[in-house]
Amino acid sequence: MYDLAVIGGGPGGYVAAICGAQHGLKTLLVEKDALGGTCLNWGCIPTKCFIHDTKLFHGAKNSSLLKGTEALSLDVQKMVSRKRTVVRGLVGGLAAIMRSHGIEVVQGVGEVTAPGKLKVNTPGGAAKEFQAKHIILSTGSRPALPPFIKADGRLVQTTDHALDTEVVPGKIVIIGGGVIGVEMASIYLNLGCAVTILELLPEILNTEDEEVRQTLKILLEKRGAKIHLKAKATEVTIRGEQVEIAFQDSTGKMGQLKADRLLVAAGRAPVLDGIQPDRLGLKMNGPFVKVNARLETGVPGVYAIGDLVGGMMLAHKASAEAEAAVANILGGKREVDSTRIPRCIWGLTEIGAVGLSEQEARATGRPVRVGKFPCPYSGASQAMGKKDGFVKVVGDSETGEILGVHIVGEHATDLIGESVMAMTMEAAVEDLAEVIKPHPTLSENLMEAAKDWSGLAIHAPRKR
Ligand code: NAI
Repeated sequence: MYDLAVIGGGPGGYVAAICGAQHGLKTLLVEKDALGGTCLNWGCIPTKCFIHDTKLFHGAKNSSLLKGTEALSLDVQKMVSRKRTVVRGLVGGLAAIMRSHGIEVVQGVGEVTAPGKLKVNTPGGAAKEFQAKHIILSTGSRPALPPFIKADGRLVQTTDHALDTEVVPGKIVIIGGGVIGVEMASIYLNLGCAVTILELLPEILNTEDEEVRQTLKILLEKRGAKIHLKAKATEVTIRGEQVEIAFQDSTGKMGQLKADRLLVAAGRAPVLDGIQPDRLGLKMNGPFVKVNARLETGVPGVYAIGDLVGGMMLAHKASAEAEAAVANILGGKREVDSTRIPRCIWGLTEIGAVGLSEQEARATGRPVRVGKFPCPYSGASQAMGKKDGFVKVVGDSETGEILGVHIVGEHATDLIGESVMAMTMEAAVEDLAEVIKPHPTLSENLMEAAKDWSGLAIHAPRKR
């Protein structure tokens, strides 16, 4: 009998297993594929490898300082192979961490047959049965394809295929201008491909602050991306080595695009393989498993976390829920505050954001004031030659409460951590303004935006 069985070995599941073992729980982890889940094997880590390598290539090829760069090319096979080495190393590291904690890892599809009971269908076909006092479901998500699209993995791909492909297309169409669409578009633009994005909504990156969305759209377009907004892909046909994509444009007219490849980034759906919600009596929230604030499903002893329960489909959200679920199993009353979950996007430049956008903050009816610091005013940004972007602080003008922070620019995804900390510690905008920052660094830009909130930015013209 185990104290804890976790189904799914991604950043939700493996963190839950480690936390359980750290607190003395006899723990079982069931994973059907590779430890690390989508994030490590087919998502965050592979895309970050590609973003890094293709940015390096594009930067060098287009540098006005280097000579002879016309002939520069990127060895895509080596890039893919480096990514495989990174992933393999990290997966191996996770296996060693599991062993060090005495966590039993079983490969196969986990099925909860009744509260406290599970069956694992192993790749060899044999079924193994286990009992556990508590079960955490963390089976994640997979790409959701519109019903009219079938991915062949070659001409029509999802990220599962694209991140392991060594052939670079000349022309690519991407369906979806969400996070995945923008990150992948950035990689292909860095590689020199012709990129077209079809996005159903009136904006790309729909969930972000308006200025953030606009900035990224301008950057993508400056690099040559064609972005069709309010454009609905309706039909996909493979003809020979080409893909034809029919779409309805913003005026209702039908259009057609031809490309060497189509990437579908139109959202992700929860993985319910082996879970059988009806049999177990799980309540659902649309396609997702429903949980309360403590991650309890309502079935005794069964918790669910990560992409499976919806909300922000982010690795660190899943990991935070994993820690909370284990704390609750141990008798705690822990909840994850969704307003403190950072959002990070690695595009042509980076986006780091937490809390409310300016528009969301204003819509609450609270008195809102905004402080902003553009990267061109920053010595560090100038010295690095990275002038695209800004830091924006959204605060309650009466109480100074930080309602949201939005960073666009180099290292934004690292820099946002400080704002998350400030919000978690309930610091005020004035506190962010008073912190002494090392000079010259990008970290000063947040301090300057916070000072600007009071009209007192140092490296900016006087506000009238
Ligand atoms: P998404 O929901 O962010 O974006 C998908 C977009 O596709 C939507 O804007 C939607 O309007 C559009 N779309 C859907 N059907 C369409 C059609 N027929 N024609 C044109 N447009 C259509 O989903 P995405 O980008 O696939 O990402 C999935 C999840 O993974 C998201 O929740 C995302 O946050 C998460 N993720 C996060 C990353 C990060 O934080 N850096 C990286 C990768 C994924």
